[in-house]
Amino acid sequence: MRLSVTTAIAALALLSFAPAPQAQSPSSQVALTPPMGWNSWNYFAAKVDDKGVRAAADQIVSTGMKDAGYIYVNIDDTWEAERDASGVLHTNSKFPDMKALADYVHSKGLKLGIYSGPGNKTCAGYAASLGHEEQDAKMYAEWGIDYLKYDLCSFRQDVMAAQAPNDKAAQMKLMIAAYEKMGKALKATGRPIVYSLCQYGWDSVWEWAPALGGNLWRTTGDISPNWNSMYTILSQQEGLQSYAGPGHWNDPDMLEVGNGRLSLAENRTHFSMWAMLAAPLLAGNDLPNMKPEIKAILTNKEVIAIDQDKLGKQASRVYSEGEVDLWMRHLAGGAAAVAVLNAGSERYSTHPFHLDLTKLGLHGTQKGKDLWAGKDVTLTQGMPIELASHDILLVKIDSPK
Ligand code: GAL
Repeated sequence: MRLSVTTAIAALALLSFAPAPQAQSPSSQVALTPPMGWNSWNYFAAKVDDKGVRAAADQIVSTGMKDAGYIYVNIDDTWEAERDASGVLHTNSKFPDMKALADYVHSKGLKLGIYSGPGNKTCAGYAASLGHEEQDAKMYAEWGIDYLKYDLCSFRQDVMAAQAPNDKAAQMKLMIAAYEKMGKALKATGRPIVYSLCQYGWDSVWEWAPALGGNLWRTTGDISPNWNSMYTILSQQEGLQSYAGPGHWNDPDMLEVGNGRLSLAENRTHFSMWAMLAAPLLAGNDLPNMKPEIKAILTNKEVIAIDQDKLGKQASRVYSEGEVDLWMRHLAGGAAAVAVLNAGSERYSTHPFHLDLTKLGLHGTQKGKDLWAGKDVTLTQGMPIELASHDILLVKIDSPK
C-alpha cells in the first residue's frame, strides 16, 4: 500500500518533542556499514513467494552480487497467515516452511530478512505483531531470521488514534514505546537481528531510533520507480547527515534500480546518490531477469565502496547552481567523494556550469577517479562540466587538497 503521509508530517512537524538521548544502539554489532541485500517489495509486492525468494538468493550468488556485498534477502509484506489459539503466527501457502527457507538462504552464505509491524495489521492487511511482540521475535530467531523491517501501518488506527485521539504528543509516545518493545524483544532473543524501522520519517525518528536498537529508519514515504520520486527523496535527506554512522543509518527507502521508467542515467544517479548517502543498498528489482547494464550498476564495486566506507559519514549537498547539485562525502583515510548531478531535464540545462572547487573546500587541481567511466580524472577550478539530463559525475579523490 502506498501511504500518503504529507498531512500527518505537517501536523507532527508543528509539535516540538524532547529527543531521546543519543545512545549506542544495542544492536550495533550488526549494520556497522549500511546493510546490503535485496527486498521483495519494490518489484514483486504481494507476488513474493518461497520460490521467488530462493531464486533471488540464487541470483545474488550467480550474478556476483554476493561478492559485491549484497547479503540480506528480505521478504517484505504478504508472507503472513493467521494466529492459532496459542497466538503463534503461521505463514501462508506462499511460504510453506520458513525455517527451511532460512536454511536454504543461509546455505548460500546469505541472510534472511522478514517484515511485520506494531499494529494488528501490516500495510497490506496481513496479521502484524500487536500483543505478540516477544512471541514473534522468538519465532523469527528460531527460524533463523537476521533482519526485521517493522512497519507502522495499522498501529496508527489500532493504538495511536484509539488510545490518544487528537493528542499528537501522546500518539508519538505510544509509537516510540511500540518500536522500543520490539527492539527489546529482538535483543532478548540473543540473535543478532538488524532492526529496520519503517514509519516514513515521522517525528524526527533519527533522533530516537538508535537508542531503542534501531539500525536503520526510513526517512520518507515510499519510493516509486521514477525520477521525481527518487529526486524528491534525495533532496529530503539534506540535514540528516549527522544521524548516520556505524550501526545506525538513515534509510531513504529501497533501491528502484532496474525498475519502472528510470533511464540508465537515472539508475546510475540513484545508485550513486544512495552510496553517497551511506544508505542501505537493498536492490528491489527482478533479479532473474536483470539486464546486464543494471547488473553493472548494482555491482560497481568502487561505488559500493563509497557506500560501505567504514567512517559512515553521509554526504551533504554543498551547493547547487541552476539545476546542478554538488554533493560531497568524506571517506576513511582522508579521501573524499564528489558527485555532480544534473537534475535538469536536458543536457544543456547545465550550461554554463563551471565547477567551483573552492565551494567544496578544495584548493587547486584535484586528481581523482571517475567511478562510472573507470578512468582517472583531473578536476580544476572553474572547469566546465557537461552532463546528460539526470546523469551524474561521481569522482573519488584519494588525497583531496
Ligand atoms: C509500506 C512500506 C513499503 C512496503 C509496504 C508493504 O508501508 O513503506 O516499503 O513495506 O508497506 O505493505
